[in-house]
Amino acid sequence: MSTHAQIGVTGLAVMGRNLARNFARNGYTVAVHNRTASKTRELVEEFGGEGEFVPAETAKEFVESLERPRRLVIMVKAGEPTDAVIEEFAPLLEPGDMIIDGGNAHFADTRRRERDLREQGIHFVGTGISGGEEGALHGPSIMPGGSVESYDSLGPMLEKISAKADDGAPCVTHVGPDGAGHFVKMVHNGIEYADMQLIGEAYQLLRDVAGYSPAEIADIFRTWNQGRLDSYLIEITAEVLSHVDAETGKPFVDVVVDQAEQKGTGRWTVQIALDLGVPVSAIAEAVFARSVSGHAELREASRHLAGPSARTLGKEEAAAFADQVEQALYASKIVSYTQGFHQIATGSEEYDWDIDLGKVAAIWRGGCIIRAAFLDRITRAYEAQPGLPSLLADEGFADEIAAAQDDWRSVIATAVAQGVPTPAFAATLAYYDSLRAPRLPAALTQGQRDYFGAHTYHRTDRDGAFHTLWGGDRAEVSA
Ligand code: 6PG
Repeated sequence: MSTHAQIGVTGLAVMGRNLARNFARNGYTVAVHNRTASKTRELVEEFGGEGEFVPAETAKEFVESLERPRRLVIMVKAGEPTDAVIEEFAPLLEPGDMIIDGGNAHFADTRRRERDLREQGIHFVGTGISGGEEGALHGPSIMPGGSVESYDSLGPMLEKISAKADDGAPCVTHVGPDGAGHFVKMVHNGIEYADMQLIGEAYQLLRDVAGYSPAEIADIFRTWNQGRLDSYLIEITAEVLSHVDAETGKPFVDVVVDQAEQKGTGRWTVQIALDLGVPVSAIAEAVFARSVSGHAELREASRHLAGPSARTLGKEEAAAFADQVEQALYASKIVSYTQGFHQIATGSEEYDWDIDLGKVAAIWRGGCIIRAAFLDRITRAYEAQPGLPSLLADEGFADEIAAAQDDWRSVIATAVAQGVPTPAFAATLAYYDSLRAPRLPAALTQGQRDYFGAHTYHRTDRDGAFHTLWGGDRAEVSA
């Protein structure tokens, strides 16, 4: 029995299969295993020429084929299936061996698993892998957590199979201990939701207000993709919008049911942000927008609700409006990433992960779903100012938003006037204005809370907490 496989992959659905192929194509000897053994045989039959695979019919055979310290990648559904595979393999492993979980696990599960396996001397490496099936095969962005020792062993291999940024840097870094990798992948997915929602709102405005066809909007997105919005999501949006349904000859986007689904990582991002007290309003609105779209009965029952009399722009106006929408989309994108990185920084502090935000931005420049030229800007901003409290504190981004804000505001005002829902655009502007505001209505909130619940408040002119005797002479007392 061969015991020289440098890495092993169990779970050979498309993502797992493509990851195994990627390792093999890069010269590694790859042990492969699947609960349904036929999948293992199919992989070797179909792709055996791409490199050296060591097929294993059983978990024991699979483990025995791995060189020490063993590196075992599990690519199965998050949740119980992952726990089941760990329970199957852990007893076969020895101290110093590594289990790499490449699924979209919840970081809290990863922290639990890492802690439990560490007691057996086994390294558990929760690893975010972004880029879908193509990314897994040709080079994903990889976000491993876990111990430094495990990264010392795995890092060179992951760097070899990862995507490479334009400057050649591998899109992988040791994000931080225990669940840090899956936490960052979760926020990546939250930002992905926000990016997709903002693009969707821009599309709807160009469709309903400017009166452009999907094909015309595709051309507009292609133009935007040559500039500061250059990104994978903008690129594929143009492809989706220019696609014609073969059966009906209609624009593809018009024959698709307008109810967005979600596997859950965007939802987790918002839930965790609420626990951490981080306002990720763009991501939250993106999650809620998907939920709203799915309430078909509620939408049907609301068809009769009054709305403004919409007016489609003339040709000249439409072109000018499209330029304004680009400004609004870019400004909203800056705010949305500001919120996402704030969540990563807060999570890093909360869980003592010491995450390097510049390195996170750097590994998102290639391979992942949110890959974009924009991330070069963010990488440079954090590299230049490591302690940057917010991307909006970066002079370059602040100047770009300042230049965009009139159009940003005008587009949102037009959307409101024309009854086109733009929850994420509006949320990002509200966040921006809330940060800028010299005073917020939170002062009134504190007064109300003290009135009905004696929850006390602080004063602007002296330290301490106070309460007003609302039911009596309204005297103020120290709390
Ligand atoms: C990636 C993707 C992937 C994710 C789905 C999102 O980084 O490759 O984010 O991990 O699971 O593409 O699916 P939902 O939109 O259903 O959450």
